[in-house]
Amino acid sequence: MAQKIIVTGGAGYIGTHTTVELQKAGFDVVVFDNFINSDPSSLDGVQRITGTKPELERVDCADDVAIADAFAKHSDAVGVIHFAALKAVGESVEKPLMYYQNNIRGLMNVLDNMNKHGIANIVFSSSATVYGVPDVLPVTEETPLKPATSPYGQTKVMGENIISDAVRANPNMRATLLRYFNPVGAHPSAEIGELPLGTPNNLLPYLTQTAAGIREVLSVFGDDYDTPDGFCVRDYIDINDLASAHVAALKHMLGGANGVNIFNLGTGRGVSVMELIKTFQDATGVKLNYKIAARRPGDVPAIWADATLANKVLGWRANVPLADTLRNAWKWQVKVCEKNN
Ligand code: NAD
Ligand code: WQD
Repeated sequence: MAQKIIVTGGAGYIGTHTTVELQKAGFDVVVFDNFINSDPSSLDGVQRITGTKPELERVDCADDVAIADAFAKHSDAVGVIHFAALKAVGESVEKPLMYYQNNIRGLMNVLDNMNKHGIANIVFSSSATVYGVPDVLPVTEETPLKPATSPYGQTKVMGENIISDAVRANPNMRATLLRYFNPVGAHPSAEIGELPLGTPNNLLPYLTQTAAGIREVLSVFGDDYDTPDGFCVRDYIDINDLASAHVAALKHMLGGANGVNIFNLGTGRGVSVMELIKTFQDATGVKLNYKIAARRPGDVPAIWADATLANKVLGWRANVPLADTLRNAWKWQVKVCEKNN
């Protein structure tokens, strides 16, 4: 019988792509989601790709009673991938308690119920945000963490610590903390992709919405950074590559890897905002309306990953070329526009 994995936040951007990869690898997926930042129809997209709609529990991870009921129904699961969280950095500064309530309480409830039912394996969505402004590039998993600059970032640092303490106290438990760099793109089928609510904060959805004429102009935040071309540098990782890393992490734990393992998930290559714009235009043939604007407060000038540990230990590496990723993102944007018209 297929092994069952609980995917919290499985209806969201990274969750849907990971569900596809889990199903392709033969796992039986049950999604726990309250749709605070997604729509149930995203799971229809998963079904159109894999032929199987994941089972769904409509549940808030921060609701102690409801989440206990959902876990009791699925106590035969062998692992949890915990995506469910709020993720808007600016909003977290305005509503810190909402972020701690949702992200921290949700995580604590998940860990509590895993302990209760003897579910041993957890994969946690952490973020490159835990490195702050790094002193040395690229960053390895040994790079010292910097104090978080937002309540959102704080929930990732705290989440990592809470899980590490829980594993230390329970030798039967194992965890993998995945520090994502900048996830971008969509499934090549354009059946699933990123669906930001309202005005996007992140570069790629803003860029594709501008290319589609939904936004007038993309503001490029800062051209005077101390980087090769003056623009901010990030490590943009294809969403499908990111998703497959979760399957690799899960298999590593199910194969007996003990304790807490931490991996950077990036390509190992830094790309500037202008390089990304140019690659998008070349890959799609679409001309983008952009302007140079002031720096965005709080932006890290440059960060990219050393991802060799994930390669060595998990046998995983990012494969999808950036041009393909950007073409997929554009194909998804076009499809979303067609649906909305
Ligand atoms: P997303 O908003 O698309 O998906 C999150 C999903 O979790 C949504 O479906 C939402 O409805 C659900 N959710 C949120 N709170 C919940 C709760 N209390 N109970 C049940 N469901 C809940 O975001 P995403 O981009 O897929 O991010 C997934 C995870 O990865 C998050 O933990 C996020 O912090 C982390 N992460 C994302 C990025 C990024 O740039 N996308 C980078 C680093 C880390
Ligand atoms: C990328 C680059 C901007 C928008 C954030 C979170 C981080 C993580 C991922 C969850 C930067 C530039 C952007 C625009 C621009 N999330 N930009 N014009 O800031 O690297 O990371 O999302 O964990 O925690 O902080 O991503 O996509 O916002 O920005 O020029 O309209 O694009 O300055 O250089 P960021 P981003």
